[in-house]
Amino acid sequence: MPSEQAPPPWWHGAVLYQLYVRSWRDSDGDGYGDLRGIIERLDHLAWLGVDAIWLSPTMPSPDEDWGYDVSDYLGVHPELGTLAGLDELIAQAGRRGLRVLLDLVPNHTSSAHPWFIDAASGRDAAHRGYYVWADGKPDGGPPNNWLDFTGRPAWQWHESGQYYLHNFLPGQPDLNWWEPAVHDEFRRILEFWFDRGVAGFRIDVAPGLYKDAELRDNPPIGDGGPMDGAFGLRFVYNTNRPETHGVYRAWRKIAESYSPARLLLGETWVPDAERLAAYYGNHDELQLGFNFPFAFASFDPDQLARIVGWTLAALPAGACPVWMGSNHDLGRFPTRWCGGDERKTRLALLMLATLPGTSVLYYGDEIGMTDVEVPVALRRDNATLDVAAGADRDRARTPMPWDGTPGGGFTGPDVEPWLPMADPPATTVAGQRDDPDSVLSLCRNLLALRRTELGGGLAPFETLHVDDGRWSYRTGPLVVTANFTGQPRELPAGEVLLRSGAGPADELRPWEGIITRPA
Ligand code: NOJ
Repeated sequence: MPSEQAPPPWWHGAVLYQLYVRSWRDSDGDGYGDLRGIIERLDHLAWLGVDAIWLSPTMPSPDEDWGYDVSDYLGVHPELGTLAGLDELIAQAGRRGLRVLLDLVPNHTSSAHPWFIDAASGRDAAHRGYYVWADGKPDGGPPNNWLDFTGRPAWQWHESGQYYLHNFLPGQPDLNWWEPAVHDEFRRILEFWFDRGVAGFRIDVAPGLYKDAELRDNPPIGDGGPMDGAFGLRFVYNTNRPETHGVYRAWRKIAESYSPARLLLGETWVPDAERLAAYYGNHDELQLGFNFPFAFASFDPDQLARIVGWTLAALPAGACPVWMGSNHDLGRFPTRWCGGDERKTRLALLMLATLPGTSVLYYGDEIGMTDVEVPVALRRDNATLDVAAGADRDRARTPMPWDGTPGGGFTGPDVEPWLPMADPPATTVAGQRDDPDSVLSLCRNLLALRRTELGGGLAPFETLHVDDGRWSYRTGPLVVTANFTGQPRELPAGEVLLRSGAGPADELRPWEGIITRPA
């Protein structure tokens, strides 16, 4: 546990920016964003005032799941750049005070990874034990009832005479964390990147690593809500097993052997604050874990306030919560929470900027970018190729609209971007940058106020009241009053520092939040 005198680590109270590399900026005209494109636009991030960027997967991959199927953990995907280019990105970001986090995928590899190619070569192969193999049932059926994330059986029959487990696509075989050599491999992977100056990792499927040693069937789903299971089964034996915590205790020691300590930020897909808190351990596991119940909540002050209170009560004292509304899987909050209503988007940004802890913006959140409807014929996500619009993941992965020129400033005028852009882009960075009333200006002002007033730390937080659609909370020296209704309300007392609505008003407008300093 850090001593009381030690300054808080840089990520306490930081704003992280999730950057989906393939969709941010294409520097070489192939329709895909790349590392050089990020370097060219780092000034946008420094100007906006974020502290760090998390890059969606950058490692070589056959891209069945856009980099979440890694074929080489020590390299850079040739379509995105080179190792030297990544080093340059880290250096250039550092010059602007920005740290760089990479995405690490320890739950599974690509079936094209040399470990799996060897493992699949026969039952006696050197790497066989790196993956989860099992014999079929006596009738030849799969070893148990587990389903993958598309709802299909999670077991793939293999000609080597056994099934292998894939909690995601068949091209993403799950690693077997009961195998000590897998631990050694990942220790080397962490050190390789930490030595290169990577500030930390977002850890994909953080609770997933160990599977039940007996591969027991998952029980039927109860009423635990959408995060407790899927396709009729509760996630009991295929994820969130107790042994996984030991991996993070070991990784935390590695992360803290560096100066400054490296950050482990988990994709902690668990349904409640107690299970989330368990991944922080006793300040000896992950330093940060994403709060999915918060992201999945409705845009409703009762629900949001309850989850915030519940999270703060559950986390170990001094631990730092993480808030986000959008990502590349869930969709964008300006659509999900706000239905494209700019007043609500501005209010949500104000909330995300003032809650205690670390906040994560997804690229485009800063301009209020909404989901883009991607016709089935243009879909690129194998996992959601043919689902109904609104449930696909491509909708939140479309290129960043930098400006109104052909190609949107994302790519060249004659280049077909890998996913369609909003047409015409309803909102662009260039169109908002000099407008003091824009969402982008609001976002920047919020981040500046957060730095100066909330000190980049864990400001003490207390909900003052939630009533009649209004949520009022104290955060550090400030009070936030948020009107989650379509009716105007009375202005709160105190000096007004910032409001989510544009321009002055002598009332708290519908769907407006206001930050005040009490007298
Ligand atoms: C979570 C990632 O965010 C998602 O995009 C991916 O498909 C799965 N993990 C599998 O790696």
